[in-house]
Amino acid sequence: MAEESRSNRLNGLIWPATAKSDEETGELSIGGLKASELIKEYGTPAFILDESDFRARAKTFRDATHKFFGEDAEVYYASKAFTSVATCKWLAADGVNLDVCTGGELAVALAANFPPNRIEVHGNNKSVAEIEEAIQVGVRFIVADSLIELDRINSIAGRLGKKQAILLRLTPGISAHTHESIATAHEDVKFGFSIASGAAMLAAVTAIKREHLILEGVHCHIGSQIFDDAGFILAIERLIRFIAEVKKTHSVELHHLDFGGGFGIAYTDLDDPMDIHLVLQKIHEALVAQCEKNEISMPTIAIEPGRAIAGPAMVTLYEVGTVKDVVLEDGKTRTYISVDGGMSDNIRPSLYGAEYSALLANRISTAPPTPSRVVGKHCETGDIVIRDIALPSDIVPGDVLAIPATGAYGRSMASNYNHILRPPVIAVSDGVAKTIIRREKISDLLALEEG
Ligand code: LLP
Repeated sequence: MAEESRSNRLNGLIWPATAKSDEETGELSIGGLKASELIKEYGTPAFILDESDFRARAKTFRDATHKFFGEDAEVYYASKAFTSVATCKWLAADGVNLDVCTGGELAVALAANFPPNRIEVHGNNKSVAEIEEAIQVGVRFIVADSLIELDRINSIAGRLGKKQAILLRLTPGISAHTHESIATAHEDVKFGFSIASGAAMLAAVTAIKREHLILEGVHCHIGSQIFDDAGFILAIERLIRFIAEVKKTHSVELHHLDFGGGFGIAYTDLDDPMDIHLVLQKIHEALVAQCEKNEISMPTIAIEPGRAIAGPAMVTLYEVGTVKDVVLEDGKTRTYISVDGGMSDNIRPSLYGAEYSALLANRISTAPPTPSRVVGKHCETGDIVIRDIALPSDIVPGDVLAIPATGAYGRSMASNYNHILRPPVIAVSDGVAKTIIRREKISDLLALEEG
């Protein structure tokens, strides 16, 4: 109780569950560890991952999925949001399956001894080697994305003397309300087989005929960072109608339906994400109604959340390096605060115009807020972490900024642009910190040089 009264509550939608800001000192702590302790040990920039929060979010999806769709429903965590051997081990232990979309993501899962029969493999251009590896280790599903790929999977499975369970990636023709680059189920898109054009039916017929394929069901993913359930409901309607059509015309029952991920999260106080229980309940209602209407039995359901598990569980800590006031055309001043990372550890603001929030994490400030822009250290004007934010006017070099909700597509999309070293990921829990991905070293960069 005493602990509570000394801590400012941080918005639980944006910050990890254990994040607190000390009321007297203003210092941020996560997983029972102060920002200053973490920085002393691990330096900046660093991704701090709240282990219990990550695992709790994954288990919430698992339990909600079971509650609405039954015990055989499955959650496949989307590795692309963030993956590591440690997180794969947590997911394996917590009964959450894994979606991978490259040989690299599969390799991390296998290095964690993740059970292959709980892995689903995606991708619109899987290589022969990737397909071979997936079949050989015995993954649960390969999600087929083109006719060429159907034949490729069939012939590789044949060569290995196996039959491979597959799902068809379908395009239900839906324009999800999200950034253009992360909407995936409208017609003019590289993914999947269009239902409307007949490509999906052709793919189903082709798959049914192939000797080494077991066509178990269908898959779709309508996009990412979605705040509205309408797209999911419409996708369900179209997928169920498709399943019924295949049953009617080819007497084959597709008994597995995976409707992907995409559940949006809050990055700033203005974001109001959907309640996951409410969305799943609505999807369940739509499923029951559609199955009844189309006279098919309820398929086994799977979902693939990534962002909603990893995103809010991680925070980036940066150290401020320079502060500069810039006078704008209208005579107003903007404070540019440069931190020791930027677009190499968070490309999302430059790529999608994504917005983030920030907190002065090492001390309390009573200085009035001033219009500010948080920028990185890359040689590029677009290297912006937060375009417009009001931050205390007394921020100086050496201060620490914490950016919440960087867990998804931050470290996983990080680059070495300008030969910057990618930050570590430090998992914190109950006062204990452990490195799950170490900071890159100059020797890692030089190790690739052969000149
Ligand atoms: N399943 C499939 C087949 C996907 O393609 C994706 C994401 C997911 C599941 C997980 O979606 P989530 O639950 O994380 O929204 N780099 C972008 C996001 C790209 C998402 C790609 N596919 C970003 O930073 O916003």
